[in-house]
Amino acid sequence: MKALIPAAGMGTRFLPATKALPKEMLPVVDRPAIQYVVEEGLASGADEVVVINSRDKKAIEEHFAPAPALVAALRDKGKHDYADAVEHAGSLNVSYVYQDEPLGLGHAVRCAHEKTGGEAFFVLLGDVLVPKNNLLPRMMEISAAHAGASVIAVLPVPPEEVSRFGVIAGTAITEDVWKVEALVEKPPREEAPSNLTVFGRYLLSPRVMELLAQGRPGVGGEIQLTDALDAVLREEEMFALVIKPTDGFDTGTVESWLETNKALFQGRIDRRP
Ligand code: G1P
Repeated sequence: MKALIPAAGMGTRFLPATKALPKEMLPVVDRPAIQYVVEEGLASGADEVVVINSRDKKAIEEHFAPAPALVAALRDKGKHDYADAVEHAGSLNVSYVYQDEPLGLGHAVRCAHEKTGGEAFFVLLGDVLVPKNNLLPRMMEISAAHAGASVIAVLPVPPEEVSRFGVIAGTAITEDVWKVEALVEKPPREEAPSNLTVFGRYLLSPRVMELLAQGRPGVGGEIQLTDALDAVLREEEMFALVIKPTDGFDTGTVESWLETNKALFQGRIDRRP
């Protein structure tokens, strides 16, 4: 199974930091944000992570390429911890496809259709980090219990924030699992069917990839993944895992990225013997 990470965006909110450096390469404590997401995918049953990149973001590809000369130089100096860290980043199974036009998240995901080979796949948005890796395994369990249905993670947010996200309509079937009945991308607050917002972790059936081929521009003139998910509901069941704010760390704005750095750095200090 493949995990897809869309990474072709411009990183506007971090300009000018992202003028020459891809947003996904901004460090969170000691590694680029995207490395956490790649590690999460590989730790959760993905055999390969496919980064949907833009052709001018070579830094992402350089980061995940082996760097034997650097590793050797570090080992010569006895800096084995750093050598191990560099070796690890270069050993992760990452491949690339390219999104040549910024036509939206749904279009980005569709760019990887040849990679998914007609199988279910994950989509992992890089704006949120899940260092505990507790969501994808649970989503796989829910999917397995429902004949391989798609499962998305949703986060309850205050009503005034719903218009920034995809929002689900549905019915609770257990304490933290909903059956999804509809999805709408960035609805006005008064039209939102719930306060459960699409969080950036998706386990999707192959049919979603097929439907994305027929994607038409939606909200903001972009081909929306949310619209393909709403369309697939006419043919298949879908479930939502309701998560807690503490399950994920947001890195999508300068403020939340700083907070995430602080929280994860503190967590590391707390774990020291
Ligand atoms: C995307 C999705 C949206 C989701 C959000 C989560 O929106 O389209 O459904 O709720 O990610 O971060 P974006 O943030 O790219 O506008």
